[in-house]
Amino acid sequence: MDLRSAFITQFETEPVVIGRAPGRVNLLGEHVDYNDGMVLPAAIDRAVTIAAAPIAEGLVTLAALDLGARVSFRLDALEAKVDANGKPLPDWARYPAGVASILLKDGQRVSGMNAVFTSDVPIGAGLSSSAAVEVAFAVTWRALGGWQKDALSIAQLCQRAENQYVGVNCGLMDQFASACGVEGHALLFDTRSLEYQPAPLPKGAVIIIADSGVRRSLASSAYNDRRAACEQAVAALRQFMPDIRSLRDVSAVEFAAFGEYLPAEPRKRAEHVVKEIARVQQAVTALRRNDAITFGALMFSAHKSLRDLYEVSCPELDALVEIARSLPGCIGARLTGAGFGGCTVNLVQADKAEAFIEGLKDGYRQQVGREAQVYLCKASEGAKTEKE
Ligand code: GLA
Repeated sequence: MDLRSAFITQFETEPVVIGRAPGRVNLLGEHVDYNDGMVLPAAIDRAVTIAAAPIAEGLVTLAALDLGARVSFRLDALEAKVDANGKPLPDWARYPAGVASILLKDGQRVSGMNAVFTSDVPIGAGLSSSAAVEVAFAVTWRALGGWQKDALSIAQLCQRAENQYVGVNCGLMDQFASACGVEGHALLFDTRSLEYQPAPLPKGAVIIIADSGVRRSLASSAYNDRRAACEQAVAALRQFMPDIRSLRDVSAVEFAAFGEYLPAEPRKRAEHVVKEIARVQQAVTALRRNDAITFGALMFSAHKSLRDLYEVSCPELDALVEIARSLPGCIGARLTGAGFGGCTVNLVQADKAEAFIEGLKDGYRQQVGREAQVYLCKASEGAKTEKE
Protein backbone atom coordinates (compact mmCIF):
# COMPACT_ATOMS: atom_id res chain seq x y z
CA MET A 1 0.00 0.00 0.00
CA ASP A 2 1.35 3.46 -0.78
CA LEU A 3 1.80 6.05 1.94
CA ARG A 4 -1.18 8.15 0.91
CA SER A 5 -3.53 5.17 1.04
CA ALA A 6 -2.04 4.12 4.37
CA PHE A 7 -2.78 7.61 5.72
CA ILE A 8 -6.38 7.44 4.48
CA THR A 9 -6.82 3.99 6.05
CA GLN A 10 -5.51 5.24 9.40
CA PHE A 11 -7.19 8.64 9.56
CA GLU A 12 -10.07 8.56 7.03
CA THR A 13 -8.97 11.84 5.46
CA GLU A 14 -6.31 13.00 2.98
CA PRO A 15 -2.71 13.90 3.92
CA VAL A 16 -1.62 17.49 3.31
CA VAL A 17 2.17 17.20 3.31
CA ILE A 18 4.60 14.47 2.29
CA GLY A 19 8.01 14.80 3.99
CA ARG A 20 11.08 12.80 3.10
CA ALA A 21 14.59 12.65 4.59
CA PRO A 22 17.40 10.26 3.61
CA GLY A 23 19.89 8.25 5.64
CA ARG A 24 23.59 8.82 5.04
CA VAL A 25 26.81 6.97 4.49
CA ASN A 26 30.11 8.48 5.59
CA LEU A 27 33.10 8.06 3.28
CA LEU A 28 35.73 9.43 5.66
CA GLY A 29 36.02 11.33 8.94
CA GLU A 30 34.59 9.01 11.58
CA HIS A 31 34.10 10.09 15.18
CA VAL A 32 35.52 13.51 14.38
CA ASP A 33 32.30 15.52 14.12
CA TYR A 34 32.17 16.00 17.90
CA ASN A 35 35.84 17.00 17.83
CA ASP A 36 35.33 19.92 15.40
CA GLY A 37 36.81 17.91 12.49
CA MET A 38 35.86 17.66 8.83
CA VAL A 39 33.66 14.84 7.54
CA LEU A 40 32.75 13.53 4.11
CA PRO A 41 29.27 11.97 4.17
CA ALA A 42 26.70 11.53 1.39
CA ALA A 43 22.93 11.28 1.68
CA ILE A 44 21.79 7.88 0.36
CA ASP A 45 18.86 6.69 -1.72
CA ARG A 46 17.07 5.24 1.30
CA ALA A 47 14.82 7.46 3.33
CA VAL A 48 12.08 8.05 5.86
CA THR A 49 8.82 9.18 4.27
CA ILE A 50 5.94 10.78 6.18
CA ALA A 51 2.39 11.62 5.13
CA ALA A 52 0.84 14.15 7.49
CA ALA A 53 -2.08 16.49 8.06
CA PRO A 54 -2.47 19.14 10.78
CA ILE A 55 -5.21 18.91 13.40
CA ALA A 56 -6.62 21.66 15.57
CA GLU A 57 -5.84 20.20 19.01
CA GLY A 58 -2.31 19.85 20.39
CA LEU A 59 -2.23 16.13 19.86
CA VAL A 60 0.18 14.18 17.63
CA THR A 61 -0.88 10.74 16.44
CA LEU A 62 1.77 8.72 14.63
CA ALA A 63 1.48 5.37 12.92
CA ALA A 64 4.86 3.69 12.31
CA LEU A 65 3.89 1.48 9.39
CA ASP A 66 6.99 -0.73 9.47
CA LEU A 67 6.44 -1.54 13.14
CA GLY A 68 2.66 -1.85 12.93
CA ALA A 69 2.55 0.52 15.91
CA ARG A 70 0.58 3.68 16.66
CA VAL A 71 0.94 6.23 19.45
CA SER A 72 -0.53 9.59 20.43
CA PHE A 73 1.19 12.22 22.55
CA ARG A 74 0.28 15.73 23.64
CA LEU A 75 2.37 18.74 22.64
CA ASP A 76 1.88 20.24 26.11
CA ALA A 77 3.28 17.14 27.85
CA LEU A 78 6.41 16.44 25.81
CA GLU A 79 8.87 16.77 28.68
CA ALA A 80 7.21 13.92 30.59
CA LYS A 81 7.99 11.61 27.63
CA VAL A 82 4.64 9.87 27.99
CA ASP A 83 1.86 9.07 25.54
CA ALA A 84 -1.64 10.51 25.74
CA ASN A 85 -2.56 7.79 28.28
CA GLY A 86 0.40 8.57 30.53
CA LYS A 87 2.44 5.48 29.52
CA PRO A 88 6.16 5.91 28.67
CA LEU A 89 6.67 6.80 25.01
CA PRO A 90 7.95 3.84 22.96
CA ASP A 91 11.58 4.32 21.88
CA TRP A 92 10.71 4.97 18.23
CA ALA A 93 8.36 7.85 19.18
CA ARG A 94 11.05 9.67 21.18
CA TYR A 95 12.67 10.95 17.98
CA PRO A 96 9.61 12.81 16.65
CA ALA A 97 8.62 13.88 20.18
CA GLY A 98 12.17 15.18 20.73
CA VAL A 99 12.00 17.16 17.50
CA ALA A 100 8.64 18.69 18.51
CA SER A 101 10.07 19.61 21.92
CA ILE A 102 13.15 21.33 20.47
CA LEU A 103 11.18 23.14 17.75
CA LEU A 104 8.83 24.52 20.39
CA LYS A 105 11.75 25.63 22.56
CA ASP A 106 13.18 27.34 19.49
CA GLY A 107 9.94 29.30 19.16
CA GLN A 108 8.62 27.55 16.05
CA ARG A 109 4.98 26.79 15.40
CA VAL A 110 4.41 23.04 15.86
CA SER A 111 0.90 21.93 15.02
CA GLY A 112 -0.94 18.91 16.28
CA MET A 113 -0.96 16.35 13.49
CA ASN A 114 -1.85 12.95 12.25
CA ALA A 115 0.95 11.17 10.41
CA VAL A 116 1.96 7.82 9.01
CA PHE A 117 5.59 7.08 8.22
CA THR A 118 7.79 4.38 6.81
CA SER A 119 11.52 3.94 6.31
CA ASP A 120 13.81 1.83 4.18
CA VAL A 121 16.92 2.95 6.06
CA PRO A 122 17.93 -0.17 8.02
CA ILE A 123 17.70 0.47 11.77
CA GLY A 124 20.87 0.49 13.88
CA ALA A 125 23.06 -0.18 10.83
CA GLY A 126 25.19 2.97 10.94
CA LEU A 127 23.21 4.63 8.14
CA SER A 128 21.53 7.23 10.38
CA SER A 129 18.04 5.87 10.48
CA SER A 130 17.29 8.01 13.53
CA ALA A 131 18.64 11.24 12.04
CA ALA A 132 16.45 10.56 8.99
CA VAL A 133 13.39 10.26 11.24
CA GLU A 134 14.26 13.49 13.06
CA VAL A 135 14.91 15.49 9.91
CA ALA A 136 11.83 14.12 8.14
CA PHE A 137 9.61 15.20 11.05
CA ALA A 138 11.30 18.59 11.33
CA VAL A 139 10.73 19.45 7.66
CA THR A 140 7.18 18.13 7.83
CA TRP A 141 6.40 20.38 10.82
CA ARG A 142 8.12 23.25 9.01
CA ALA A 143 5.84 22.77 5.99
CA LEU A 144 2.72 22.47 8.18
CA GLY A 145 3.69 25.51 10.26
CA GLY A 146 4.61 27.67 7.27
CA TRP A 147 7.88 28.90 8.86
CA GLN A 148 11.32 29.22 7.32
CA LYS A 149 14.58 27.64 8.47
CA ASP A 150 17.42 26.61 6.22
CA ALA A 151 18.59 23.01 5.96
CA LEU A 152 21.63 23.48 8.21
CA SER A 153 19.53 25.05 11.00
CA ILE A 154 17.07 22.16 10.71
CA ALA A 155 20.00 19.76 11.14
CA GLN A 156 21.21 21.64 14.23
CA LEU A 157 17.76 21.54 15.84
CA CYS A 158 17.51 17.80 15.16
CA GLN A 159 20.93 17.21 16.69
CA ARG A 160 19.74 19.05 19.81
CA ALA A 161 16.68 16.82 19.91
CA GLU A 162 18.90 13.75 19.88
CA ASN A 163 21.33 15.17 22.47
CA GLN A 164 18.80 16.64 24.87
CA TYR A 165 15.67 14.51 24.46
CA VAL A 166 16.86 11.09 23.27
CA GLY A 167 20.11 11.29 25.27
CA VAL A 168 22.69 10.36 22.61
CA ASN A 169 25.54 12.84 22.56
CA CYS A 170 25.95 12.69 18.77
CA GLY A 171 27.70 15.24 16.57
CA LEU A 172 26.08 17.08 13.68
CA MET A 173 27.16 14.93 10.73
CA ASP A 174 24.12 12.66 10.35
CA GLN A 175 21.42 15.30 10.59
CA PHE A 176 23.52 17.55 8.37
CA ALA A 177 23.86 14.95 5.61
CA SER A 178 20.17 14.08 5.77
CA ALA A 179 19.13 17.74 5.57
CA CYS A 180 21.75 19.08 3.13
CA GLY A 181 22.52 16.13 0.78
CA VAL A 182 23.31 16.87 -2.88
CA GLU A 183 22.52 14.36 -5.59
CA GLY A 184 25.55 12.55 -7.02
CA HIS A 185 27.93 14.10 -4.48
CA ALA A 186 29.51 13.61 -1.11
CA LEU A 187 29.61 16.68 1.14
CA LEU A 188 32.76 18.07 2.66
CA PHE A 189 31.51 19.49 5.94
CA ASP A 190 33.64 21.41 8.41
CA THR A 191 31.93 20.80 11.74
CA ARG A 192 33.77 23.76 13.30
CA SER A 193 33.04 26.56 10.81
CA LEU A 194 29.85 24.81 9.60
CA GLU A 195 30.92 25.52 6.01
CA TYR A 196 30.25 22.85 3.46
CA GLN A 197 30.55 22.14 -0.20
CA PRO A 198 29.56 19.28 -2.48
CA ALA A 199 32.49 17.04 -3.44
CA PRO A 200 32.28 14.84 -6.54
CA LEU A 201 33.21 11.19 -6.08
CA PRO A 202 36.35 9.99 -7.84
CA LYS A 203 35.57 9.47 -11.55
CA GLY A 204 34.42 5.97 -12.46
CA ALA A 205 33.86 5.01 -8.80
CA VAL A 206 30.62 3.93 -7.12
CA ILE A 207 29.63 3.54 -3.49
CA ILE A 208 28.64 0.07 -2.30
CA ILE A 209 27.22 -0.51 1.16
CA ALA A 210 27.59 -3.86 2.91
CA ASP A 211 25.48 -4.57 5.98
CA SER A 212 27.12 -7.10 8.30
CA GLY A 213 23.77 -7.84 9.95
CA VAL A 214 25.41 -7.30 13.38
CA ARG A 215 23.62 -4.92 15.80
CA ARG A 216 24.88 -3.90 19.24
CA SER A 217 22.34 -3.00 21.89
CA LEU A 218 24.67 -0.89 24.05
CA ALA A 219 25.96 1.18 21.14
CA SER A 220 24.67 4.51 22.46
CA SER A 221 26.36 4.22 25.84
CA ALA A 222 29.62 3.07 24.18
CA TYR A 223 29.28 6.08 21.86
CA ASN A 224 28.87 8.48 24.79
CA ASP A 225 31.95 6.85 26.44
CA ARG A 226 34.07 7.54 23.35
CA ARG A 227 33.00 11.14 23.35
CA ALA A 228 33.86 11.49 27.04
CA ALA A 229 37.34 9.99 26.40
CA CYS A 230 37.97 12.67 23.76
CA GLU A 231 37.01 15.39 26.24
CA GLN A 232 39.34 13.85 28.81
CA ALA A 233 42.17 13.88 26.26
CA VAL A 234 41.58 17.58 25.50
CA ALA A 235 41.61 18.42 29.22
CA ALA A 236 44.91 16.55 29.72
CA LEU A 237 46.54 18.02 26.59
CA ARG A 238 45.76 21.55 27.85
CA GLN A 239 48.68 21.16 30.27
CA PHE A 240 50.92 21.48 27.24
CA MET A 241 48.69 23.41 24.85
CA PRO A 242 46.53 25.69 27.00
CA ASP A 243 44.72 27.27 24.04
CA ILE A 244 43.23 24.16 22.45
CA ARG A 245 39.45 23.96 22.33
CA SER A 246 39.16 20.49 20.85
CA LEU A 247 41.21 17.74 19.20
CA ARG A 248 40.87 19.67 15.93
CA ASP A 249 43.46 22.05 17.38
CA VAL A 250 46.05 19.30 17.86
CA SER A 251 48.24 18.38 14.88
CA ALA A 252 49.66 14.89 14.37
CA VAL A 253 53.14 16.27 15.17
CA GLU A 254 51.93 17.85 18.41
CA PHE A 255 50.18 14.66 19.34
CA ALA A 256 53.39 12.72 18.78
CA ALA A 257 55.09 15.03 21.31
CA PHE A 258 52.43 15.14 24.03
CA GLY A 259 50.26 12.07 23.48
CA GLU A 260 52.44 9.86 25.61
CA TYR A 261 51.51 11.83 28.74
CA LEU A 262 47.86 10.84 28.41
CA PRO A 263 46.33 7.84 30.18
CA ALA A 264 46.15 4.80 27.86
CA GLU A 265 42.49 4.94 26.87
CA PRO A 266 42.10 8.64 26.02
CA ARG A 267 45.50 8.41 24.30
CA LYS A 268 44.26 5.76 21.85
CA ARG A 269 40.98 7.55 21.22
CA ALA A 270 42.68 10.89 20.63
CA GLU A 271 45.30 9.40 18.34
CA HIS A 272 42.50 8.11 16.12
CA VAL A 273 40.76 11.48 16.06
CA VAL A 274 43.86 13.57 15.37
CA LYS A 275 44.97 11.30 12.51
CA GLU A 276 41.46 10.88 11.12
CA ILE A 277 41.09 14.65 10.86
CA ALA A 278 44.39 14.73 8.94
CA ARG A 279 43.18 11.89 6.71
CA VAL A 280 40.13 13.89 5.63
CA GLN A 281 42.37 16.80 4.72
CA GLN A 282 44.58 14.49 2.66
CA ALA A 283 41.51 12.94 1.06
CA VAL A 284 40.27 16.33 -0.09
CA THR A 285 43.58 16.95 -1.85
CA ALA A 286 43.37 13.48 -3.40
CA LEU A 287 39.82 14.15 -4.64
CA ARG A 288 40.91 17.43 -6.23
CA ARG A 289 43.58 15.51 -8.14
CA ASN A 290 41.05 12.78 -8.93
CA ASP A 291 43.43 10.39 -7.20
CA ALA A 292 41.16 7.50 -6.27
CA ILE A 293 44.03 5.27 -5.14
CA THR A 294 45.11 7.62 -2.36
CA PHE A 295 41.51 8.17 -1.34
CA GLY A 296 41.00 4.41 -1.07
CA ALA A 297 44.19 3.91 0.92
CA LEU A 298 42.98 6.52 3.40
CA MET A 299 39.71 4.60 3.78
CA PHE A 300 41.58 1.38 4.61
CA SER A 301 43.81 3.12 7.12
CA ALA A 302 40.75 4.79 8.70
CA HIS A 303 39.27 1.35 9.24
CA LYS A 304 42.42 0.07 10.89
CA SER A 305 42.41 3.05 13.21
CA LEU A 306 38.73 2.57 14.11
CA ARG A 307 39.49 -1.09 14.80
CA ASP A 308 42.70 -0.75 16.81
CA LEU A 309 42.62 2.73 18.37
CA TYR A 310 38.98 3.74 18.62
CA GLU A 311 37.87 0.11 19.14
CA VAL A 312 34.47 0.43 17.53
CA SER A 313 34.77 -2.37 14.96
CA CYS A 314 33.86 -6.03 15.33
CA PRO A 315 35.10 -9.25 13.66
CA GLU A 316 32.28 -9.20 11.10
CA LEU A 317 33.09 -5.65 9.92
CA ASP A 318 36.81 -6.51 9.83
CA ALA A 319 36.01 -9.55 7.67
CA LEU A 320 33.94 -7.45 5.26
CA VAL A 321 36.82 -4.99 4.85
CA GLU A 322 39.42 -7.71 4.29
CA ILE A 323 37.27 -9.60 1.79
CA ALA A 324 36.56 -6.34 -0.05
CA ARG A 325 40.28 -5.57 -0.22
CA SER A 326 40.92 -8.89 -1.99
CA LEU A 327 38.29 -8.30 -4.71
CA PRO A 328 39.02 -6.80 -8.14
CA GLY A 329 37.99 -3.16 -8.50
CA CYS A 330 37.97 -2.35 -4.78
CA ILE A 331 39.44 1.14 -4.22
CA GLY A 332 38.77 1.44 -0.49
CA ALA A 333 36.64 -0.05 2.31
CA ARG A 334 35.94 0.78 5.93
CA LEU A 335 33.25 0.65 8.56
CA THR A 336 30.87 3.60 8.32
CA GLY A 337 29.01 5.48 11.04
CA ALA A 338 29.51 4.93 14.75
CA GLY A 339 30.54 1.26 14.39
CA PHE A 340 29.67 -1.45 16.94
CA GLY A 341 28.23 -3.52 14.07
CA GLY A 342 26.33 -2.12 11.11
CA CYS A 343 27.78 -1.46 7.67
CA THR A 344 30.95 -0.98 5.69
CA VAL A 345 31.24 1.55 2.87
CA ASN A 346 33.17 0.48 -0.22
CA LEU A 347 34.47 2.58 -3.07
CA VAL A 348 34.55 0.39 -6.16
CA GLN A 349 35.31 0.80 -9.87
CA ALA A 350 31.93 1.11 -11.56
CA ASP A 351 32.62 -1.60 -14.16
CA LYS A 352 33.53 -4.11 -11.43
CA ALA A 353 30.61 -3.30 -9.12
CA GLU A 354 28.38 -6.24 -9.94
CA ALA A 355 31.10 -8.87 -9.51
CA PHE A 356 32.26 -7.09 -6.35
CA ILE A 357 28.80 -7.34 -4.79
CA GLU A 358 28.59 -11.07 -5.50
CA GLY A 359 32.17 -11.66 -4.37
CA LEU A 360 31.62 -9.85 -1.07
CA LYS A 361 28.41 -11.73 -0.31
CA ASP A 362 30.02 -15.09 -1.12
CA GLY A 363 33.17 -14.37 0.84
CA TYR A 364 31.19 -13.23 3.89
CA ARG A 365 28.97 -16.31 3.78
CA GLN A 366 32.02 -18.58 3.58
CA GLN A 367 34.17 -16.84 6.18
CA VAL A 368 31.61 -15.62 8.68
CA GLY A 369 28.66 -17.91 8.03
CA ARG A 370 26.17 -15.04 7.80
CA GLU A 371 24.36 -13.27 4.98
CA ALA A 372 25.36 -9.69 4.19
CA GLN A 373 23.07 -7.25 2.38
CA VAL A 374 25.32 -5.65 -0.22
CA TYR A 375 24.04 -2.98 -2.59
CA LEU A 376 24.93 -0.09 -4.81
CA CYS A 377 24.12 3.27 -3.29
CA LYS A 378 23.33 6.50 -5.12
CA ALA A 379 24.33 9.75 -3.43
CA SER A 380 21.04 11.63 -3.14
CA GLU A 381 19.50 14.99 -2.35
CA GLY A 382 18.63 15.97 1.20
CA ALA A 383 15.27 16.31 2.94
CA LYS A 384 12.28 17.88 1.20
CA THR A 385 8.53 18.22 1.46
CA GLU A 386 5.73 18.32 -1.05
CA LYS A 387 2.24 19.66 -0.55
CA GLU A 388 -0.39 17.15 -1.62
C1 GLA B 1 27.08 8.57 14.76
C2 GLA B 1 26.80 9.99 15.21
C3 GLA B 1 27.57 11.01 14.38
C4 GLA B 1 29.04 10.64 14.26
C5 GLA B 1 29.22 9.16 13.90
C6 GLA B 1 30.64 8.73 13.95
O1 GLA B 1 26.57 8.35 13.48
O2 GLA B 1 25.43 10.28 15.16
O3 GLA B 1 27.39 12.30 14.90
O4 GLA B 1 29.71 10.95 15.45
O5 GLA B 1 28.47 8.31 14.75
O6 GLA B 1 31.41 9.41 13.02
